[in-house]
Amino acid sequence: MKTLDLLLEKLYNTNNLTREELLYLLENLDQVHTEKLFEYARKTRERYYGNKVYMRGLIEFSNICRMNCLYCGIRRDNKKVQRYRLSHREILECCREGYALGYRTFVLQSGEDPWYTVERLTDIITYIKSMFPDVAVTLSAGERPEEEYRAFFEAGADRYLLRHETASRSLYESLHPGASFDNRRNCLYILKKIGYQVGAGFMVGLPGQTKEDLVEDLLFLKELEPHMIGIGPFIPHKETPLGSEKGGTVEDTLVMLALTRLLVPDCLLPATTAMGTLHPEGRELALMAGANVVMPNLSPTWARPKYELYQDKICTGDEAAHCRGCIERRINSVGMVVDMGRGDHCNFEHTA
Ligand code: 5AD
Ligand code: FES
Repeated sequence: MKTLDLLLEKLYNTNNLTREELLYLLENLDQVHTEKLFEYARKTRERYYGNKVYMRGLIEFSNICRMNCLYCGIRRDNKKVQRYRLSHREILECCREGYALGYRTFVLQSGEDPWYTVERLTDIITYIKSMFPDVAVTLSAGERPEEEYRAFFEAGADRYLLRHETASRSLYESLHPGASFDNRRNCLYILKKIGYQVGAGFMVGLPGQTKEDLVEDLLFLKELEPHMIGIGPFIPHKETPLGSEKGGTVEDTLVMLALTRLLVPDCLLPATTAMGTLHPEGRELALMAGANVVMPNLSPTWARPKYELYQDKICTGDEAAHCRGCIERRINSVGMVVDMGRGDHCNFEHTA
């Protein structure tokens, strides 16, 4: 048998490869072996989660951010964004609507907005959990001190998303002025220790990112073993310093999704909005490469265009009201079914 076949089989059977083997795969994958890789990724996903796709309702509650990440459309120095914050009431209204639509997981995402002090955020979490005791609350609000992560957890937050963005120290430092590579990773380990279901993840096709860097992303995920892994293509935003750079491709992102599914076989892996933005069937392709989560937007329609992390983000215009039906059709079109439950990680025992 040829080397590529052997490597793919080893990956499928052991859920592991060395740094050198992963790099060899990335450098030599041809179309035939890419199809084989996707097939193994689908089989692996099916073994752990069947043909279910878990739905998370995303609430983008503030686009105010103290960080200045070079790639991001809501970075501090982008003066063209109209900034907004949802009030407690508005956030709860999104949850109420989402709950009525059947959602049992809400993802509360924001920029790193200091207005949401630990008191304000724990208040919101406590309120949501008392109104809707059967929902899982996921926070995605950036780097915070350990005590705050603990306070959110004690208030009832179940999960925390914090992409590592890239596992290359030099690339990380060049993209995140003033931020600490070590602190970000450390946050992920702290979140795990506290007991959250934790989400990490990275972008594909960042300017200057090499295949070696992508291998480091895979190895970092293998080591951290997060419960959820968000992977999307980098898409340039014109009001950022990287506005005229090239973006990531659908093909490269699909390969990284499939490799991730095989290396961390039990992870929850979203078909991201960024994939749907790059390609009209980007999310369907992601599901066919091993993904099993979709995160429809529940933010108020007026807020959606203001949460533009990258150019031409989908589901921010008039079509937004139809996302639920649109996504369900897309999921069914690849032979999968919507699951509106909490969608916990398969090893996670929920005791409430
Ligand atoms: N292109 C693609 N993804 C982006 N993100 C931020 N800016 C961009 C961009 N220009 C991703 C980051 C962040 C997540 C919420 O969105 O990975 O963690
Ligand atoms: Fe929003 Fe299709 S998912 S319109």
